[in-house]
Amino acid sequence: MASRFSAREMNDFCLYLSREYGLSFPTTRYSFVGNRVETVMTDFGCNDLADIILKAKKDLKLRIELLNCLTTNETWFFRHPEHFKILREHILPEILASLRQTGDNRIRIWSAGCSIGAELFSILFTILDVLPDPQNFNIQLTGSDISNDALDKAKSAVYNGHELRLLNEKMLTKYFRKREHDSWQVLPEIQRYCSFELQNLLSSWPARSYDIIFCRNTMIYFDQSNKTKIAERFFKVLEPGGFYVTSANEMLHPGPQQEFSQIFIENEIVYRKLQQSNELKLVKFKTPTDLLRALNLLKNNGFYFQLEKIPQTHKLAPMRAIYLRKRESAKVEELFSLNSIKVTSSQLITK
Ligand SMILES: C[S@@+](CC[C@H](N)C(=O)[O-])C[C@H]1O[C@@H](n2cnc3c(N)ncnc32)[C@H](O)[C@@H]1O
Repeated sequence: MASRFSAREMNDFCLYLSREYGLSFPTTRYSFVGNRVETVMTDFGCNDLADIILKAKKDLKLRIELLNCLTTNETWFFRHPEHFKILREHILPEILASLRQTGDNRIRIWSAGCSIGAELFSILFTILDVLPDPQNFNIQLTGSDISNDALDKAKSAVYNGHELRLLNEKMLTKYFRKREHDSWQVLPEIQRYCSFELQNLLSSWPARSYDIIFCRNTMIYFDQSNKTKIAERFFKVLEPGGFYVTSANEMLHPGPQQEFSQIFIENEIVYRKLQQSNELKLVKFKTPTDLLRALNLLKNNGFYFQLEKIPQTHKLAPMRAIYLRKRESAKVEELFSLNSIKVTSSQLITK
């Protein structure tokens, strides 16, 4: 179908979409973009594509509508069931084993680009099937998406038979209540494990870390440079030993890959963030003031540290030393020296 927009107009518009939202549309998808923006033009009285760009600067509603119409929220429960088998049989047992070791009881999972929530609820059902005692865990499942419409549906937790087509009868009756016609709602008492939030993956993220991140069928919207940046950011917010699950066509790119191990399970690849080395450095300070200043510097600069009680060598010596991560210790000790913080000794320890 011939588009009402010129190639040049479309080029400029797609450049804008890429620059502002990180959405990447090759020329082969120009007619898709052209068709989708028609309603935005009518609803907001825009004369042409340049007018959309101009009005979007001031009009949040228009921007939201634009994103809603250009993203495809197609999803369903247990999409690509292999990933949920891997979650159940490989990833969750590993995460639970490491929680037992650390005494932590939090399970933090993020579905990035969650659309209407089918992915996050599928993760929840998998966890509830595996955990005999979910009440003893602090289960925090977060879904985020750029589309308000999709999130509204996720929050309502009401789905139709088509979206639930891969669920068996047992699951349907265990986790849903039947509503009118062809619709089912996730039981309110288990909805509470999940929260949904509006978020553009290309903007800033809340300061949180996760044990598992699912980001599937979402990176397709981004150009190569944004894909790499986002993958690196996923890596940063994953706990050591945490897992990253993505679609086969959205595998990680060389940047962060070296910090992940690729695990081949059930003919699929999932990524695991490497466990941190548990080599630490114990640093002792000349005076309590040096120790206090060091603590402030560490806190202000976001370095890991752990306080350790030590025997006092003389009356004015500090009664605490600090453990640093070995791999950060050179940087930190340089910072101490720049700030004239006096260290009496530092010693490598493997805990
Ligand atoms: C096809 S759905 C994928 C849903 C689910 N992850 C799955 O695999 O079934 C892609 C989702 O990515 C969202 N999305 C696109 N660009 C985004 C961005 N910049 N930030 C956050 N979400 C985005 C879309 O709104 C859409 O809901």
